[in-house]
Amino acid sequence: MRYGGGTFLFKNLFRYLAMYVLANVRNGVVKDLRNNVPEKLMRLPLGYYSNERKGDIISRITTDATEVEWSVMSSLEVIFRDPVNIILFLGMMIFLSAKLTLFVFIILPIAGIVLALIGKSLRRSSIKAKNLLGQLFSIIEETISGLRIIKGFNAEKYIGEKFKLINSAFNKASIKVYRRTDLSAPLSEFLGTLAMMIVMFYGGNLVLKNDGSLSASAFITYIAFFSQLIPPAKSFTTAFYNIQKGMASAERIFAITDAEEYITNPAQPVAIKSFEKEIEYKNVSFAYLRGDEGYAIRNLSLKIEKGKTIALVGQSGSGKTTLADMLPRYYDPTNGDIKIDGINIKNISLNNLRNLMGIVSQEAILFNDTVLNNIAFGQENVSEQDVIAAAKIANAHEFIMQMPDGYQTNIGDRGSKMSGGQRQRISIARAVLKIRNTYS
Ligand SMILES: Nc1ncnc2c1ncn2[C@@H]1O[C@H](COP(=O)(O)OP(=O)(O)OP(=O)(O)O)[C@@H](O)[C@H]1O
Ligand SMILES: [Mg+2]
Repeated sequence: MRYGGGTFLFKNLFRYLAMYVLANVRNGVVKDLRNNVPEKLMRLPLGYYSNERKGDIISRITTDATEVEWSVMSSLEVIFRDPVNIILFLGMMIFLSAKLTLFVFIILPIAGIVLALIGKSLRRSSIKAKNLLGQLFSIIEETISGLRIIKGFNAEKYIGEKFKLINSAFNKASIKVYRRTDLSAPLSEFLGTLAMMIVMFYGGNLVLKNDGSLSASAFITYIAFFSQLIPPAKSFTTAFYNIQKGMASAERIFAITDAEEYITNPAQPVAIKSFEKEIEYKNVSFAYLRGDEGYAIRNLSLKIEKGKTIALVGQSGSGKTTLADMLPRYYDPTNGDIKIDGINIKNISLNNLRNLMGIVSQEAILFNDTVLNNIAFGQENVSEQDVIAAAKIANAHEFIMQMPDGYQTNIGDRGSKMSGGQRQRISIARAVLKIRNTYS
């Protein structure tokens, strides 16, 4: 009793301490995984997003990261602890009767193959389920941002049905994942028991033969060890399955973190302080899909001198935005070069290049923050006076002053608390401030 109490106290104390340390590891790994994604998202070229859904990316950072935490990280302990137990028990069994243990080694690879096959199919179903969940996220995201049109076109039913359809596909895939996972414990127990039965039968015969190869007492000890082998084998396979499930999610996250950043900084950038003479497009061609025949721009040459105001006029879809997007290197030309003051923009660092520009895009891109922070966006060391001066140039000061908290007013998601024209003027003020800040 006395010793028993002490033993259990220590067992549980150390167990708790182990979990205490493990909690740091688990959350640390997942935190790093999650942290890496937003940074990567900002480095990835715009072209990457043409083929991705916003909601899916969000679900990768949230639900998939959590899945990795629960399945992979919570299995770590088992993956390290149980093989040790299994090897110890096996060692004892070989010591007691190598002949009998042979059966275990015949059953083991069979069990291994069956488990691996189910594991593979589990991973596939799990990826499918996670992809569908990503689609659900993206419908929700589209619903909220497209509410005005959904309501106006009485499309609630259409969107609702679309959601239900994907939700039920997700449901089906999830059930499949559960069924596969739930198979692990009974299957390994069944295989373990099968092995046990064979061993009992064969071992019993050996004992009854009484030829000295196996004594009755050694056989009973052997069975005792064998029965101890089953629980760790069971939890080990469960852990293996969990890891398969988690790896499906990890793969989805790695698909982002490993995506190619094909718009990169030059190895030896040329520093350029200001724009002096001209911008030159030389034989520039561009196709959105690499290797695609459908060029948006073909063999275009153009010189833009400093100080001139240039307007690009053309049919919708003729490539004006595309042409402009290549200057800050949102996209690189498929063929040809773009030069600023005679320097190929590919030889200038992205930071340096974009620092030379103030950009106002076709759709005003604003953030859920104050007017002040939206105008001062990305700039360090700007005073409120600078912001106000820029707003005045952009004809925005007056309406900003009429907002409830002036420059401290929150403008809502994507500037939804302002009119379209007001949003445009905020983004113009932002560009004006940037240019004045760069060239002052
Ligand atoms: N991300 C994209 N992926 C594939 N094709 C694209 C993409 N963006 C634009 N395109 C195609 O490239 C062509 C040029 O588009 P671009 O946006 O440059 O036109 P634009 O001249 O700015 O038109 P608008 O006056 O309507 O703004 C169009 O035919 C369009 O379909
Ligand atoms: Mg355009």
